[in-house]
Amino acid sequence: MFPAASLLTTLLLALSIAATPVEIRSPPVTLPFAKRINTSGGAINLVQHDQSRAAAIKDRGAAIQSGKMDRRAASIAVTNEAVSYIASVGVGNPATTYDLIVDTGSSNTWVGAATAYVKTSTSTATGEPVSVTYGSGSFSGEEYIDTVTLGSGLTINQQSIGVASTSTGFQGVDGILGIGPEDLTQGTLTQETNTEIPTVTQNLFSQGTISEIVVGVFFAPTTSQTDTNGELTFGGTDSTKYTGSITYTPVTTTSPATYYWGINESITYGSTTILAETAGIVDTGTTLILLASNAYTKYQSATGATLDRTTGLLKLTTTQYDALQNLNFNVGSVTYALTPNGQIWPRSLNTYIGGTTGSIYSIVNNLGSPSGEGLDFINGQTFLERFYSVFDTTNNRVGFATTSSTDATTN
Ligand SMILES: *[C@@H]1O[C@H](CO)[C@@H](O)[C@H](O)[C@H]1NC(C)=O
Ligand SMILES: *[C@@H]1O[C@H](CO)[C@@H](O)[C@H](O)[C@H]1NC(C)=O
Repeated sequence: MFPAASLLTTLLLALSIAATPVEIRSPPVTLPFAKRINTSGGAINLVQHDQSRAAAIKDRGAAIQSGKMDRRAASIAVTNEAVSYIASVGVGNPATTYDLIVDTGSSNTWVGAATAYVKTSTSTATGEPVSVTYGSGSFSGEEYIDTVTLGSGLTINQQSIGVASTSTGFQGVDGILGIGPEDLTQGTLTQETNTEIPTVTQNLFSQGTISEIVVGVFFAPTTSQTDTNGELTFGGTDSTKYTGSITYTPVTTTSPATYYWGINESITYGSTTILAETAGIVDTGTTLILLASNAYTKYQSATGATLDRTTGLLKLTTTQYDALQNLNFNVGSVTYALTPNGQIWPRSLNTYIGGTTGSIYSIVNNLGSPSGEGLDFINGQTFLERFYSVFDTTNNRVGFATTSSTDATTN
C-alpha cells in the first residue's frame, strides 16, 4: 500500500501530462475496472435481469416516498449477474482483494459472497446486523468497520462494510461497491433503522482525500467477454476519457427517480417522439436501455423490429438495421445521440444471450410498466458505454459527455 502522499503525487504527475484542462480542484483518484459477461450458467437473460431490477428500483423508491417502508426489503441491486462491471477492492491490512460490482443504484458496500472476509488488525465488528434485499438476490450479515483500498493504493479508513454470512444471486462476485445516494443505506442496519451509512465516496471526501463528492464513470463498448475497459474516478472527472465538455443536469425532483441518480430527459427516434420529457434514472447495474412500455412500443413500431422470444430482445432485419435512425436522449439543451450501432447488442456476443450468429438484436427494451409513474426510463450500461457520466453529490447533478466511443461501430 502506498502512503497517500505518494499516490497523490503520482496522480498529479499523471494530470500534468494531460493537455486538456481538468475540471476539478484536487487530483482525482482513478480505479480501472472490468466488464464481465458470465455465461457459465447457460445463455444469460438480459431482459429478465433488467426488468426485475427495474421493478425493485421502483418499489424501493415508492417505499421511501411513502415513508412507511421496510427499506431493507425494498432495497435493490443486481442479481444473478449477467453483465457486470467489476472493481477490485481491497479490505483490511494486509488487504484481501474482492471483486465488487460497481453499482450506482445501491449504496451499501459489502463483501463475502464468494471470497470469505479475512479479518485483520484493522477489522472491527460493530455488532450491528446488516441486510439488503435486492431484486431477486440478497445478502445479510454483520457490519464491520475496516480499511478499504481502491485501485493501487488509495486508502479509506474506518469504512463501514457489510460482511455477508448469507447471500443469494451473486455467484462469481464477492459483493457490491455501492456508489448510489447515501439515503439508500437507510434501514439496512436492521437495528438502527434511521441510521445512514456513509458511502466510500463520502468517506473519501470527509477524510480529505477528494475535494468533491463526485464519481466519474467511463465505460466503453467491447466485443470480448472480459475486458478491463472501464474507469472509475473519485473526486472528479478524467478528461482523457471524454471529448468536448461535460454538461450537467440537476437530479430530478420527481419521485421515485429522485432517490437514485434520476434525471429528466425526453427521447426521440429520428424526429419521432418516443417519450416526452419525464423522469428516469442512470444506472450502472442495468445492462439495457429500458423504456416505459408505451415508449418501447413506439420504438418497436418506428423501427419495425419484432420481438425475439428466445432472447426477449427486439430483432432487426438487415434492412431495418440499415434504415435505423439515431435514438436521441435530450437532456436539458443537449442531445446525446445513440447511433444505430449503439442501439444493438454486439453481434459477436449473440450466442451468449441465446441469440443466433448473424442476427441483429436491439438493446432497447421494455421497462415493464407504463410511463407516468415517476421512473420512465433507465439509461443502463449500453448508454454509458457511449457517453461518459458523472455522479455529483456535492452539486446534486448528473453530467454526460461524448467519448471516443460515442460513434463506435464495433457492435
Ligand atoms: C459465473 O456464474 C456461475 C453461476 O452461474 C458461477 O458459478 C461462476 O463462478 C461465475 N463465474 C464468474 C467468473 O463470474
Ligand atoms: C423535472 O420534471 C418535473 C416534472 O415535469 C418537474 O416538476 C421538475 O421541475 C423538472 N426538473 C427537475 C430538476 O426535477
